[in-house]
Amino acid sequence: MANSARQLRLGAFLMATGHHIAAWRHPDVPADPLDFSVYRRAAQIAEAARFDALFVADSVAVFGDEPASHTARSVYFEPLTLHAALSTVTERIGLVATATTTYNEPYQVARQFASLDHLSGGRVGWNLVTSDAALEAQNFNRDEHLGHAERYARAREFHRVVTGLWDSWADDAFLRDKASGQFYDPGKLHVLNHRGEHFKVRGPLNVARSPQGRPVVVQAGSSETGRELAAETAEVVFTAQTSLTNAQAFYADLKGRLGKFGRDEDSLKIMPGAFVVVGQSETEAREKFEAFQELVEPQVGVALLGRMLGNFDLSEYPLDGPLPELPLTDSGQRSRQQLLTELAGAENLTLGQLGRRIAGGRGHYSLIGTPTQIADELQAWFEGRAADGFNVLVPHLPTGLEEFATQVVPELQRRGLFRREYEGRTLREHLGLARPKNPFFG
Ligand SMILES: Cc1cc2nc3c(=O)[nH]c(=O)nc-3n(C[C@H](O)[C@H](O)[C@H](O)COP(=O)(O)O)c2cc1C
Repeated sequence: MANSARQLRLGAFLMATGHHIAAWRHPDVPADPLDFSVYRRAAQIAEAARFDALFVADSVAVFGDEPASHTARSVYFEPLTLHAALSTVTERIGLVATATTTYNEPYQVARQFASLDHLSGGRVGWNLVTSDAALEAQNFNRDEHLGHAERYARAREFHRVVTGLWDSWADDAFLRDKASGQFYDPGKLHVLNHRGEHFKVRGPLNVARSPQGRPVVVQAGSSETGRELAAETAEVVFTAQTSLTNAQAFYADLKGRLGKFGRDEDSLKIMPGAFVVVGQSETEAREKFEAFQELVEPQVGVALLGRMLGNFDLSEYPLDGPLPELPLTDSGQRSRQQLLTELAGAENLTLGQLGRRIAGGRGHYSLIGTPTQIADELQAWFEGRAADGFNVLVPHLPTGLEEFATQVVPELQRRGLFRREYEGRTLREHLGLARPKNPFFG
């Protein structure tokens, strides 16, 4: 293999039944979102193909409306418990779980991720999100969702507390000296004593510093505020981008912000989502995709669209009319709202067409073709500084992932763009991220 210096990173974004909203209706797809065997199979496929990580999103609310009852998206595993189970049936692949900063407490999140980092031998990442589903508020003692600015302010402080707690113990704090009876060195324990606007947390954490020092911090907001937080805190950014030019602009912008936080470019990896359908010919790939598209009920597509635009109910608008003018979302993802609005304009899509258009990849970059065509595109993005790697979304699980792993990954390997063997053991090692020093102990 031509082992070029820069290698691309691959995440397998696992979603129950697959990413296509109608995947569960397809005859080849196991329709139970709580079937662990599907996740186990997908994880093992991804690990055999040497993916860097498995990625699991989250939402802590059920929409419960009529269109939702036609999807398989109302029940799913909690990401950390799922990853705990997956960590026992895999050995090397990274495990990235989403946990919201809006409806959680930092001590709990710090503890759970540190525990799983120990259990998995240093393979964990935390996808820090600010909750794009407004309904979550009502499951956590509130009538209203927190606004965009407040969610991000809370997220920033949340991150500071979590990382401070992860650094509670020096790496060599535990002496376990049976002769002297000294279990740990009290001089190597740091009490955080955090008192901020949103949180009061004394610490220390009741988990030793974890194998990676700190689990990898991933972030998935792409608005102006989201980019600032990412530049300050994230080590991986997952983002939705529709074109090479947009992705290049996002990449340059985000990397350009790192300097003011004293960070170098390599300390943050940008991984846009890529929705992929593979076929032996382009026609076959398109036919495969169409088989899913035919299963999309119009009201299901429009309900998904309403959520992705930032929690809007679009059910009263005509399907054959244009996308209505909507206010800037305060409860959802601003970046996705902008992306979808631009997409509707650029392709002159009706509401119904746009809903159908995003039924597979929810607005993520879409690649439908042969392994060579797909590899060409991924290579162009990677070499064109639009991406350090990709979070791969497949329409259906586990088959879609298997097709990518056995057809596209070998093509990327042949081109010297992707590893044939894991070089390291931890997620940080896979991604080429340094193990953070503990600032409390020199
Ligand atoms: C690619 C991507 C994936 C996301 N995944 C989740 C998720 O799983 N759960 C969640 O609550 N929010 C998710 N978000 C939204 C984030 O919480 C985000 O911080 C918030 O909605 C604000 O987005 P914005 O910065 O684009 O306005 C995701 C966002 C993007 C761009």
